[in-house]
Amino acid sequence: MLDLIRRPRRNRKSEAIRSFHRETFLSPAHFIYPLFIHAGSGTQPIKSMPGCLRLSLDAMMKEVEEARAEGVNSIVLFPAIADKLKSSRGEECYNPEGLVPEAIRRLKKQWPDLVVTTDVALDPYSSDGHDGIVVDGKILNDETVEVLCKQAVCQAQAGADIIAPSDMMDGRVLAIREALDEAGFQDVSILAYTAKYASAFYGPFRDALESAPKFGDKKTYQMDPANAREALMELELDEAEGADMVMVKPAGPYLDVIRRLSEATPLPVAAYQVSGEYAMIKAACQNGWLDERRVVLESLIGIRRAGADIILTYFAKQAARYLNGK
Ligand code: PBG
Repeated sequence: MLDLIRRPRRNRKSEAIRSFHRETFLSPAHFIYPLFIHAGSGTQPIKSMPGCLRLSLDAMMKEVEEARAEGVNSIVLFPAIADKLKSSRGEECYNPEGLVPEAIRRLKKQWPDLVVTTDVALDPYSSDGHDGIVVDGKILNDETVEVLCKQAVCQAQAGADIIAPSDMMDGRVLAIREALDEAGFQDVSILAYTAKYASAFYGPFRDALESAPKFGDKKTYQMDPANAREALMELELDEAEGADMVMVKPAGPYLDVIRRLSEATPLPVAAYQVSGEYAMIKAACQNGWLDERRVVLESLIGIRRAGADIILTYFAKQAARYLNGK
Protein backbone atom coordinates (compact mmCIF):
# COMPACT_ATOMS: atom_id res chain seq x y z
CA MET A 1 0.00 0.00 0.00
CA LEU A 2 1.14 3.53 -0.74
CA ASP A 3 1.81 5.54 2.37
CA LEU A 4 -0.33 8.58 1.47
CA ILE A 5 -1.58 11.21 3.91
CA ARG A 6 -3.59 13.11 1.31
CA ARG A 7 -5.98 11.11 -0.86
CA PRO A 8 -8.14 13.65 -2.77
CA ARG A 9 -10.30 10.80 -4.03
CA ARG A 10 -11.87 10.49 -0.52
CA ASN A 11 -13.72 13.74 -1.32
CA ARG A 12 -15.06 12.24 -4.55
CA LYS A 13 -16.30 8.93 -3.22
CA SER A 14 -20.05 9.47 -3.61
CA GLU A 15 -22.45 11.89 -5.23
CA ALA A 16 -23.45 13.18 -1.79
CA ILE A 17 -19.84 13.88 -0.81
CA ARG A 18 -19.13 15.46 -4.19
CA SER A 19 -22.16 17.68 -3.69
CA PHE A 20 -20.73 18.97 -0.37
CA HIS A 21 -18.01 20.89 -2.08
CA ARG A 22 -19.23 21.53 -5.62
CA GLU A 23 -18.07 25.04 -6.46
CA THR A 24 -20.12 25.98 -9.49
CA PHE A 25 -23.79 25.69 -10.36
CA LEU A 26 -25.85 26.07 -13.46
CA SER A 27 -29.43 27.22 -13.39
CA PRO A 28 -31.92 28.30 -16.07
CA ALA A 29 -31.83 31.66 -14.26
CA HIS A 30 -28.32 32.22 -15.66
CA PHE A 31 -29.35 31.91 -19.30
CA ILE A 32 -30.27 34.45 -21.94
CA TYR A 33 -31.81 32.69 -24.94
CA PRO A 34 -30.99 34.23 -28.37
CA LEU A 35 -33.85 34.03 -30.87
CA PHE A 36 -33.76 34.69 -34.61
CA ILE A 37 -36.93 36.29 -35.93
CA HIS A 38 -38.25 37.17 -39.36
CA ALA A 39 -41.23 39.12 -40.66
CA GLY A 40 -42.81 36.30 -42.67
CA SER A 41 -44.93 33.41 -41.51
CA GLY A 42 -43.79 30.02 -40.29
CA THR A 43 -40.28 28.92 -39.43
CA GLN A 44 -37.16 28.52 -41.56
CA PRO A 45 -34.31 26.14 -40.73
CA ILE A 46 -30.78 27.48 -40.35
CA LYS A 47 -28.49 25.03 -42.08
CA SER A 48 -25.40 25.54 -39.96
CA MET A 49 -27.36 25.62 -36.68
CA PRO A 50 -29.41 22.41 -36.50
CA GLY A 51 -32.17 22.80 -33.92
CA CYS A 52 -32.35 26.60 -34.31
CA LEU A 53 -34.95 28.23 -36.53
CA ARG A 54 -35.75 31.61 -37.92
CA LEU A 55 -39.06 32.26 -36.20
CA SER A 56 -42.14 34.16 -37.27
CA LEU A 57 -43.51 36.32 -34.46
CA ASP A 58 -46.15 33.68 -33.74
CA ALA A 59 -43.49 30.98 -33.56
CA MET A 60 -41.37 33.25 -31.35
CA MET A 61 -44.26 33.54 -28.87
CA LYS A 62 -44.52 29.76 -28.72
CA GLU A 63 -40.77 29.33 -28.27
CA VAL A 64 -40.72 31.84 -25.41
CA GLU A 65 -43.65 30.12 -23.76
CA GLU A 66 -41.76 26.82 -23.86
CA ALA A 67 -38.54 28.39 -22.59
CA ARG A 68 -40.37 30.04 -19.69
CA ALA A 69 -41.93 26.72 -18.77
CA GLU A 70 -38.34 25.47 -18.24
CA GLY A 71 -37.37 28.53 -16.18
CA VAL A 72 -35.66 30.57 -18.91
CA ASN A 73 -37.15 34.03 -18.57
CA SER A 74 -34.66 36.04 -20.54
CA ILE A 75 -34.20 36.36 -24.30
CA VAL A 76 -32.27 38.40 -26.83
CA LEU A 77 -33.68 39.12 -30.28
CA PHE A 78 -31.87 39.02 -33.63
CA PRO A 79 -33.85 40.04 -36.72
CA ALA A 80 -33.46 38.69 -40.25
CA ILE A 81 -34.25 41.78 -42.30
CA ALA A 82 -35.43 41.63 -45.91
CA ASP A 83 -32.84 42.84 -48.43
CA LYS A 84 -35.13 45.58 -49.69
CA LEU A 85 -35.12 47.17 -46.21
CA LYS A 86 -31.32 47.20 -45.94
CA SER A 87 -29.38 50.36 -46.70
CA SER A 88 -25.90 51.71 -46.21
CA ARG A 89 -26.95 53.80 -43.17
CA GLY A 90 -29.26 51.09 -41.81
CA GLU A 91 -32.18 53.47 -41.19
CA GLU A 92 -34.57 50.54 -40.71
CA CYS A 93 -32.93 49.88 -37.32
CA TYR A 94 -34.86 52.74 -35.73
CA ASN A 95 -38.20 52.26 -37.51
CA PRO A 96 -40.72 52.10 -34.64
CA GLU A 97 -42.90 49.84 -36.81
CA GLY A 98 -39.94 47.57 -37.62
CA LEU A 99 -39.65 43.88 -36.81
CA VAL A 100 -37.80 44.17 -33.49
CA PRO A 101 -40.05 46.84 -31.89
CA GLU A 102 -43.11 44.87 -33.02
CA ALA A 103 -41.68 41.68 -31.47
CA ILE A 104 -40.87 43.47 -28.20
CA ARG A 105 -44.38 44.88 -27.91
CA ARG A 106 -45.95 41.47 -28.44
CA LEU A 107 -43.68 39.83 -25.90
CA LYS A 108 -44.08 42.46 -23.19
CA LYS A 109 -47.85 42.58 -23.66
CA GLN A 110 -48.10 38.86 -23.04
CA TRP A 111 -45.38 38.61 -20.36
CA PRO A 112 -44.51 41.91 -18.66
CA ASP A 113 -41.96 40.11 -16.45
CA LEU A 114 -40.05 38.56 -19.38
CA VAL A 115 -36.57 40.12 -19.64
CA VAL A 116 -36.17 41.31 -23.22
CA THR A 117 -32.68 42.17 -24.41
CA THR A 118 -32.03 43.72 -27.81
CA ASP A 119 -28.89 43.87 -29.90
CA VAL A 120 -27.67 47.28 -31.00
CA ALA A 121 -25.58 47.27 -34.19
CA LEU A 122 -26.27 47.96 -37.83
CA ASP A 123 -25.30 44.65 -39.44
CA PRO A 124 -28.78 43.10 -39.82
CA TYR A 125 -29.90 46.36 -41.49
CA SER A 126 -26.74 47.26 -43.40
CA SER A 127 -26.51 46.65 -47.15
CA ASP A 128 -22.74 46.39 -46.54
CA GLY A 129 -23.10 43.74 -43.83
CA HIS A 130 -21.10 45.83 -41.37
CA ASP A 131 -21.93 46.94 -37.84
CA GLY A 132 -21.41 50.57 -38.77
CA ILE A 133 -21.79 53.04 -41.61
CA VAL A 134 -19.29 52.42 -44.40
CA VAL A 135 -17.83 55.22 -46.52
CA ASP A 136 -15.01 54.52 -48.97
CA GLY A 137 -14.35 51.16 -47.37
CA LYS A 138 -13.99 52.64 -43.87
CA ILE A 139 -16.36 52.11 -40.95
CA LEU A 140 -17.21 55.53 -39.53
CA ASN A 141 -17.26 55.62 -35.74
CA ASP A 142 -19.02 58.75 -34.56
CA GLU A 143 -21.62 58.85 -37.33
CA THR A 144 -22.47 55.23 -36.52
CA VAL A 145 -22.85 55.97 -32.80
CA GLU A 146 -25.53 58.58 -33.63
CA VAL A 147 -27.58 55.95 -35.45
CA LEU A 148 -27.03 53.40 -32.67
CA CYS A 149 -28.48 55.88 -30.17
CA LYS A 150 -31.64 56.17 -32.26
CA GLN A 151 -31.82 52.37 -32.48
CA ALA A 152 -31.45 52.01 -28.70
CA VAL A 153 -34.13 54.62 -27.93
CA CYS A 154 -36.49 53.00 -30.45
CA GLN A 155 -36.02 49.62 -28.74
CA ALA A 156 -36.52 51.14 -25.29
CA GLN A 157 -39.71 52.84 -26.46
CA ALA A 158 -41.03 49.46 -27.58
CA GLY A 159 -40.33 48.06 -24.09
CA ALA A 160 -36.83 46.53 -24.13
CA ASP A 161 -35.38 45.94 -20.65
CA ILE A 162 -31.71 45.62 -21.62
CA ILE A 163 -29.92 47.22 -24.55
CA ALA A 164 -26.88 45.28 -25.72
CA PRO A 165 -24.56 47.16 -28.08
CA SER A 166 -22.55 44.59 -30.07
CA ASP A 167 -21.08 47.00 -32.60
CA MET A 168 -17.72 47.76 -30.90
CA MET A 169 -17.69 51.44 -31.89
CA ASP A 170 -15.75 53.67 -29.48
CA GLY A 171 -17.82 55.73 -27.05
CA ARG A 172 -21.14 54.10 -27.82
CA VAL A 173 -21.98 53.06 -24.26
CA LEU A 174 -21.84 56.61 -22.92
CA ALA A 175 -23.70 58.00 -25.92
CA ILE A 176 -26.45 55.39 -25.62
CA ARG A 177 -26.71 55.98 -21.84
CA GLU A 178 -27.19 59.69 -22.41
CA ALA A 179 -29.69 59.14 -25.23
CA LEU A 180 -31.72 56.72 -23.10
CA ASP A 181 -31.71 59.05 -20.10
CA GLU A 182 -32.70 62.02 -22.20
CA ALA A 183 -35.66 60.06 -23.57
CA GLY A 184 -36.73 59.13 -20.03
CA PHE A 185 -35.39 55.57 -19.95
CA GLN A 186 -33.22 55.73 -16.81
CA ASP A 187 -34.29 52.19 -15.90
CA VAL A 188 -33.29 50.57 -19.16
CA SER A 189 -29.99 48.71 -18.67
CA ILE A 190 -26.95 48.49 -20.90
CA LEU A 191 -25.21 45.15 -21.37
CA ALA A 192 -22.03 46.11 -23.22
CA TYR A 193 -20.30 43.72 -25.56
CA THR A 194 -17.02 44.72 -23.94
CA ALA A 195 -14.55 42.17 -25.27
CA LYS A 196 -16.00 41.13 -28.58
CA TYR A 197 -13.45 39.42 -30.76
CA ALA A 198 -13.17 39.32 -34.56
CA SER A 199 -14.04 35.64 -34.48
CA ALA A 200 -14.60 32.99 -37.13
CA PHE A 201 -17.09 31.41 -34.72
CA TYR A 202 -19.79 33.89 -35.83
CA GLY A 203 -20.14 32.20 -39.23
CA PRO A 204 -23.42 30.34 -38.59
CA PHE A 205 -25.01 33.47 -37.08
CA ARG A 206 -24.25 35.37 -40.28
CA ASP A 207 -25.88 32.52 -42.24
CA ALA A 208 -28.94 32.85 -40.01
CA LEU A 209 -29.32 36.57 -40.69
CA GLU A 210 -27.65 36.71 -44.12
CA SER A 211 -25.58 39.48 -42.59
CA ALA A 212 -22.02 38.58 -43.59
CA PRO A 213 -19.84 41.57 -44.56
CA LYS A 214 -20.04 42.30 -48.30
CA PHE A 215 -16.35 43.22 -48.29
CA GLY A 216 -13.44 42.90 -45.90
CA ASP A 217 -13.79 41.78 -42.30
CA LYS A 218 -14.60 43.31 -38.92
CA LYS A 219 -11.04 43.60 -37.62
CA THR A 220 -10.98 47.40 -37.45
CA TYR A 221 -13.63 47.33 -34.74
CA GLN A 222 -13.78 43.84 -33.19
CA MET A 223 -10.79 42.74 -31.10
CA ASP A 224 -7.80 40.66 -32.12
CA PRO A 225 -8.21 37.10 -30.79
CA ALA A 226 -4.58 37.23 -29.64
CA ASN A 227 -5.24 39.95 -27.04
CA ALA A 228 -6.39 39.78 -23.43
CA ARG A 229 -4.90 42.95 -21.85
CA GLU A 230 -6.75 45.04 -24.42
CA ALA A 231 -9.98 43.62 -22.99
CA LEU A 232 -9.12 45.26 -19.68
CA MET A 233 -8.97 48.63 -21.40
CA GLU A 234 -12.35 48.04 -23.04
CA LEU A 235 -13.65 47.09 -19.58
CA GLU A 236 -12.31 50.29 -18.03
CA LEU A 237 -14.01 52.36 -20.72
CA ASP A 238 -17.35 50.56 -20.56
CA GLU A 239 -17.42 50.86 -16.76
CA ALA A 240 -16.63 54.56 -16.94
CA GLU A 241 -19.25 55.05 -19.65
CA GLY A 242 -21.97 53.53 -17.49
CA ALA A 243 -22.36 49.92 -18.61
CA ASP A 244 -24.48 47.92 -16.15
CA MET A 245 -23.13 44.55 -17.28
CA VAL A 246 -20.21 43.55 -19.46
CA MET A 247 -19.75 40.72 -21.91
CA VAL A 248 -17.06 38.50 -23.35
CA LYS A 249 -17.71 36.91 -26.73
CA PRO A 250 -17.18 34.16 -27.86
CA ALA A 251 -17.08 32.21 -24.59
CA GLY A 252 -15.41 28.79 -24.85
CA PRO A 253 -12.20 29.86 -26.61
CA TYR A 254 -11.93 32.96 -24.35
CA LEU A 255 -12.33 31.55 -20.83
CA ASP A 256 -9.16 33.32 -19.71
CA VAL A 257 -10.67 36.66 -20.73
CA ILE A 258 -13.86 35.86 -18.79
CA ARG A 259 -11.70 35.10 -15.75
CA ARG A 260 -9.68 38.30 -16.07
CA LEU A 261 -12.71 40.52 -16.53
CA SER A 262 -14.66 38.92 -13.69
CA GLU A 263 -11.72 39.46 -11.33
CA ALA A 264 -11.33 43.05 -12.44
CA THR A 265 -14.94 44.28 -12.19
CA PRO A 266 -17.74 44.28 -9.63
CA LEU A 267 -20.26 44.35 -12.50
CA PRO A 268 -22.08 41.22 -13.60
CA VAL A 269 -20.18 39.46 -16.38
CA ALA A 270 -21.95 37.78 -19.29
CA ALA A 271 -20.41 35.39 -21.80
CA TYR A 272 -21.82 34.55 -25.22
CA GLN A 273 -21.52 30.94 -26.33
CA VAL A 274 -21.80 31.87 -29.98
CA SER A 275 -23.26 30.20 -33.04
CA GLY A 276 -20.02 28.44 -34.04
CA GLU A 277 -19.60 26.94 -30.58
CA TYR A 278 -23.18 25.69 -30.80
CA ALA A 279 -22.64 24.32 -34.33
CA MET A 280 -19.48 22.42 -33.31
CA ILE A 281 -21.19 20.68 -30.42
CA LYS A 282 -24.32 19.91 -32.44
CA ALA A 283 -22.37 18.51 -35.38
CA ALA A 284 -20.30 16.18 -33.21
CA CYS A 285 -23.38 15.02 -31.33
CA GLN A 286 -25.34 14.39 -34.53
CA ASN A 287 -22.49 12.17 -35.66
CA GLY A 288 -22.69 10.25 -32.42
CA TRP A 289 -19.18 11.40 -31.50
CA LEU A 290 -20.11 13.17 -28.27
CA ASP A 291 -22.77 12.68 -25.62
CA GLU A 292 -24.97 15.74 -26.16
CA ARG A 293 -26.47 16.04 -22.71
CA ARG A 294 -23.14 15.84 -20.91
CA VAL A 295 -21.21 17.97 -23.36
CA VAL A 296 -23.79 20.77 -23.43
CA LEU A 297 -23.82 21.01 -19.64
CA GLU A 298 -20.03 20.73 -19.37
CA SER A 299 -19.51 23.50 -21.93
CA LEU A 300 -21.80 25.74 -19.87
CA ILE A 301 -20.40 24.90 -16.44
CA GLY A 302 -16.91 25.68 -17.80
CA ILE A 303 -18.08 29.15 -18.77
CA ARG A 304 -19.58 29.70 -15.32
CA ARG A 305 -16.46 28.36 -13.59
CA ALA A 306 -14.36 30.83 -15.57
CA GLY A 307 -16.34 33.60 -13.90
CA ALA A 308 -19.40 34.34 -16.01
CA ASP A 309 -22.61 35.16 -14.16
CA ILE A 310 -24.82 35.17 -17.23
CA ILE A 311 -24.57 32.97 -20.33
CA LEU A 312 -26.09 33.76 -23.70
CA THR A 313 -26.55 30.36 -25.31
CA TYR A 314 -28.58 28.75 -28.08
CA PHE A 315 -28.76 25.74 -25.76
CA ALA A 316 -30.73 27.72 -23.15
CA LYS A 317 -34.04 25.87 -23.46
CA GLN A 318 -32.42 22.48 -24.04
CA ALA A 319 -29.99 22.87 -21.13
CA ALA A 320 -32.76 24.09 -18.85
CA ARG A 321 -34.68 20.94 -19.71
CA TYR A 322 -31.68 18.83 -18.73
CA LEU A 323 -31.29 20.76 -15.48
CA ASN A 324 -34.97 20.13 -14.77
CA GLY A 325 -34.25 16.40 -15.01
CA LYS A 326 -35.88 15.86 -18.42
C1 PBG B 1 -23.78 41.55 -34.69
C2 PBG B 1 -23.64 40.32 -33.88
C3 PBG B 1 -22.94 39.16 -34.23
C4 PBG B 1 -23.21 38.22 -33.25
C5 PBG B 1 -24.03 38.83 -32.31
N1 PBG B 1 -24.28 40.13 -32.71
C6 PBG B 1 -22.16 38.83 -35.44
C7 PBG B 1 -21.01 39.65 -35.82
O1 PBG B 1 -20.51 40.47 -35.08
O2 PBG B 1 -20.59 39.47 -36.96
C8 PBG B 1 -22.70 36.81 -33.27
C9 PBG B 1 -23.44 35.84 -32.43
C10 PBG B 1 -23.18 34.41 -32.75
O3 PBG B 1 -22.30 34.05 -33.56
O4 PBG B 1 -23.89 33.59 -32.18
N2 PBG B 1 -23.21 42.69 -34.27
